[in-house]
This record gives sequence, structure tokens and C-alpha cells, in this order.
Amino acid sequence: MGHAEPITAGDIVTAPASDFLRDAWAGLDRPEKSINPKWLYDQAGSALFEQITTLPEYYLTRTEISILQRHADDLAQLVPTGGTLVELGSGASVKTRTLLDAGRHLSAYVPIDISAAFLNLTADDLRARYPDLSVRPIVGDFLQPVALPDDMASRPKVGFFPGSTIGNITPANAVDLLSRARAWPGMEAFILGVDLVKAPGVLVDAYDDAAGVTAQFITNVLVRMNAELGADFNIADFSYQASWNAQDARIEMSLISGKAQTVDLAGRQISFAEGESIDVSMSRKYTVDSLTQLAQASGWTVRQMHCDDAKQFAVAVLTPM
Ligand code: TRP
Repeated sequence: MGHAEPITAGDIVTAPASDFLRDAWAGLDRPEKSINPKWLYDQAGSALFEQITTLPEYYLTRTEISILQRHADDLAQLVPTGGTLVELGSGASVKTRTLLDAGRHLSAYVPIDISAAFLNLTADDLRARYPDLSVRPIVGDFLQPVALPDDMASRPKVGFFPGSTIGNITPANAVDLLSRARAWPGMEAFILGVDLVKAPGVLVDAYDDAAGVTAQFITNVLVRMNAELGADFNIADFSYQASWNAQDARIEMSLISGKAQTVDLAGRQISFAEGESIDVSMSRKYTVDSLTQLAQASGWTVRQMHCDDAKQFAVAVLTPM
């Protein structure tokens, strides 16, 4: 898909391998090697991620769901009757059902996700569960402008971006994303799930679980490059590492080369020193202050911040400034 072009509803497209290759080359062909985390989410990656959400160390999903359940009625009431809920990075939409169950007055639900396979499964499931709801999936990268269906322009809408996914993008991209959402016609509120700053040990464990599922999820990007781009990464020569960067208030997830080695990526040689890392993902953690700043920089006000009792996670309600 052309990155500059908005994807409209009904186009079910997957990113061609050439996009993946271009991105992989661009990320690995520089002094500070990185891989765009969007390539983590093929079908296997999405399934591994679903598994992460059930791990004992990974408190985020269950905590967020409990907050959503506790406040479901209030949150659903943010959407006026006949309005639309637009979800960014919808995945399996389990959290969405909490809102849809409390929001029988909604007329439409628009899930936007990069993984066409997961999106279509989810859409079919929701259509069966909510026969009166118009489910209009859009395959797209929410870091890029996404055009909503024309017939929805005039309808009131509320954004939903759970899962602390806002923390997985750079601060500048987070401001861009929230500013673009603010500019969608009819946008009345934005429900945002953010993980909160807490003891580093708790955070590191959440991203480096004892069962090794997160390691497998991150390593899947090397598996994909081998399978889809003809790369020859020796998977056993790379190990997963999660570390807390206090300065930037984020967990950083990387793959570390266990030795000096050269990998062939579709004809280009990528050299690694022993101990050199590939940055794959990060997960920013917020405080009331840093969230307030982010909202303000994007044209929103933090109207409410719903937290669990242990103050691990927050579901924030943003309204136009
Ligand atoms: N939004 C999730 C988070 O930041 C994504 C995530 C969970 C993740 N575990 C991960 C991303 C491990 C990369 C690696 O918690």
C-alpha cells in the first residue's frame, strides 16, 4: 500500500513484501539499528501478542479491561445515539465488546488495524454479536492519515485507542496521531489507555516474562525476515532484552547479537558487532503530568483519568480543548 495514500473502507489490502524489505533495509543499514515494530504483527505475531496479554507478569490488559468494565456505561455515553466508535489498532477487539455491550445506541463501529487477517476475523465476530451495528473495518497504519468512509463524516464519533499502544510510538508521532484524530469531523471525545510509571522491576518483568513469550514475539520479526525477505538470520545468535529507560520513561525492547556476524538481507550484507542491538519496540509509561502535556500538545484536554486501585494503568477521556 502506498504510505501517503489514505486507505478507505472496503479496501482489504496487505502491505507488500517490498514495503517490509525497504523498511528493514532502512532500519538495519544505519549505526543505531532498528526495525519498525509494525512488522511484529503478522498472523503469528498477532497470536503471540494475544498470548502476552494473558501472562501473569503482563498486568496491562487485565487491568485495563477491569477499568473499562467498571466505567463502561459512562464511557459508552460519550458516544451520542447514532454515533460511531472508531478504534485504532483494534487487534482482537475484546476490550471493544465491553464498550459495545454498554453502547447499544451506537450505529457504527470502525476498527482500524494493520493486520487484515485479524481485522476480518474480528469484524465477522462482531457482526454476529451485534447484528444492528454497522461494522466498517479499515486496513491501515494509524501512523498515517486514514480516511474515514464519506458517509460517516457528519456523524458524531468517539475515538478509542486502548492497550497503551500510544506508548509504542515516538512522542512526535503520538502528537501527530492525536492531532489527526482531533481533526476528524464530528470527533467528540477520545478514550485513551495508557500505562503508568511504576517500579522498574514490575515494568521489566511485564516485557520479559518467565515463559519467554515476549522474547518469541520480538524474535518473530527475524523469523519473518527469513521467511518473507530471504534473509539468513541465525535466530539462536540473537537474544531478547527489555530495559527501563528512566530518562524517557519507557521500556525498550531489543534483540542483541550474541557474536560478531554478517547477515544477508536480500543481497545486502548487514554486519553486527558482538553485543550490538536492534531496537524493535518501546513502551512509554505516563504520569498525570506527561499525559496532560501530550493531550494539550494535540488539541485535547484530559477530562477524566480512570485508574485501577493500585494505580497501575489509566483509561483517560480526552475532549476537544
Ligand atoms: N501496547 C503494548 C505495550 O506497550 C504492546 C506490547 C506489549 C509490546 N508487549 C510487547 C510491544 C512486547 C512489543 C513487545 O505494552
